[in-house]
Amino acid sequence: MPSLRDAARGRILFGGDYNPEQWPEEVWEDDVRLMKDAGVNSVTLGVFSWAKIEPRPGAREFGWLDRLMDLMHTHGIGVVLATPTASPPPWMGAEHPETLPRGEDGSVVWYGSRQQFCASSPVYRRHAAALTEDLAARYADHPALTVWHINNEYCTHCWCDGTAAHFRRWLRDRYATVEALNEAWGTAFWSQRYDTWEQILPPRKAQYMKNPTQVLDFKRFTSDALMECYLAERDIVARHTPQIPVTTNFMPLWSGQDAWAWSAQEDIVSVDVYPDPKAPQAAQYNAMLADMTRSQAAGPWMLMEQAAGPVNWRGVNHPKPAGLNRLWSLQSVARGADAVCYFQWRQSRQGAEKFHSGMVTHAGENGRTFREVKQLGAELATIGEAVSGADVPSEVAILHDWDSWWAGAQEGRPSRLLDYTEIVQSWHRALWESGISTEFARPEADLSRFRMVAVPQLYLLTDAAIDNLVAYVRGGGTLVCGFFSGIADADDRIRPGGMDVRMRDLCGIRTLHEWWPLDADTTVECDGFRASVWSEELEADPGAEVVSAYRGGELDGLPAVVRNDRAYYVSTLPEPDALRSLLGRVAAEAGAVPVLAGLPEGVEAVRRGDLLFLLHHGRGSVTVPVPGAQVDLLTGAAVNGSVDLGRYGVAVLRGATL
Ligand code: GLA
Repeated sequence: MPSLRDAARGRILFGGDYNPEQWPEEVWEDDVRLMKDAGVNSVTLGVFSWAKIEPRPGAREFGWLDRLMDLMHTHGIGVVLATPTASPPPWMGAEHPETLPRGEDGSVVWYGSRQQFCASSPVYRRHAAALTEDLAARYADHPALTVWHINNEYCTHCWCDGTAAHFRRWLRDRYATVEALNEAWGTAFWSQRYDTWEQILPPRKAQYMKNPTQVLDFKRFTSDALMECYLAERDIVARHTPQIPVTTNFMPLWSGQDAWAWSAQEDIVSVDVYPDPKAPQAAQYNAMLADMTRSQAAGPWMLMEQAAGPVNWRGVNHPKPAGLNRLWSLQSVARGADAVCYFQWRQSRQGAEKFHSGMVTHAGENGRTFREVKQLGAELATIGEAVSGADVPSEVAILHDWDSWWAGAQEGRPSRLLDYTEIVQSWHRALWESGISTEFARPEADLSRFRMVAVPQLYLLTDAAIDNLVAYVRGGGTLVCGFFSGIADADDRIRPGGMDVRMRDLCGIRTLHEWWPLDADTTVECDGFRASVWSEELEADPGAEVVSAYRGGELDGLPAVVRNDRAYYVSTLPEPDALRSLLGRVAAEAGAVPVLAGLPEGVEAVRRGDLLFLLHHGRGSVTVPVPGAQVDLLTGAAVNGSVDLGRYGVAVLRGATL
């Protein structure tokens, strides 16, 4: 199977979305000059070019794209060629209104923006396939082609009649009979029983809370329906060019696509990452998304989009201070990225994204952003050969699952303040701040190679997942399980006892009496720490150890953290320092150690292959002690005993005694 390695060929791909159709052709030569200047070796063409290629139904205007493909090839720049199917032209919606998505209340999502397609529409699919076929045939042998990029950030949802029919077909495959569906959905509740398939609808606007399993199945279905669109286009391009890797770019930690399932269908896993430069945890967030994407890719991955400066879709859009773009880019490389690309090459002058930065901003080649882009391009060229393709070893896994997220994030739960992604981020942060390298894994994955497995919060666990966790601990692994986990089965049916008995036995919990979720901005005292979001009224097994108990309030004296041999249960969300020391201590017991001990505040160490990346997230200067004699690949300087890092400084050391 083709892979990122085939496209990168020992380099780090560097470049971005290139939308030359927004510019007169005179600008293209200037683009190429600046690309060469910046060390750009890859551009993504065609992402939103449908109306340019097919201005009216059946037309094909490829001349401009031919010229661009040739231009890129002449200058040694590879092309990630997109199927432009994310943004159907207005003629599609005007002539075929059934291709336009409808909201839960039946309202139409009109053209005039982008991504206005219903994934279940046969007309949309037919047009998308025909265009993909012609695009693939035309450029199959073009020497500039390096990667196929299918669509863009698949994210549409639709509740129309066509979707309803498609949803019913999906449900028939899953349940075979209406009776089995009634059973799974628990339709005895509130008189929701269905008598025929035809009565079943997507979960449309309703009077009160919807059937949770219907909502869960609709989320599963929507991810699958979008994936059918992806697979149809992927199969077309793969038939023309079996040697060219295929990807579609994810929004990271996005609930609309089960990225575990999707990644398995990609040759390259790629992702679009936009941390807010002002967010206090932005560096860790960037690290977490890198770890997640690397885990989905099971190896090197492609940073398909990031912003060189500000985005334009937050309430307040902050630029990146000098040096931050370089730091976060190298952090992504440290954590497995073999491609560092941007949205977009040249900042637009018109359209909805004219205030979104580009690699070349409105300030042009003399702007700070472009100067920094150039520096980064040169540095990536310097370290490319040493780093590309190398692994990032991790001995700790964090479990993460879309089914559980979908089921747990619905109405009618014990607390609306329980935010799955925030809990995942808190646990990753604790390990990141401990300097411990982590991966993400799905709950049913083979976990045997990890010394420790962390479950931040998995409300829904299948029987297979629970058996997997039990077997993992029996086999010598160490498990730390967070609250409100193992509660529901695959149909979102509450497990007997309120938490699965195998999970309770594993974690040393005899009875889970009640959940005691906490109000916003309130905390609960426990031995040794304060905690927020959640607490539980638990009774531990007599043989289990109560590591920490609640103090004060209704739960005074009851267990907060329980240990049963190598399985820990954490029934609340300890404040960050406490969670860090808890997970750091358990990881150490399990034999998982930080990448480098004794790091100054704000310095992150990541091992990739035989390289040691040191990344300084602070603005002052620090001296980092490092073992042995080494060379900093970025500067060529010899390093002996310690390395000095200034504001947002980075060193990439080779020869380290690791
Ligand atoms: C996404 C899209 C891009 C662009 C950026 C802006 O990642 O894929 O087309 O809109 O957002 O941040």
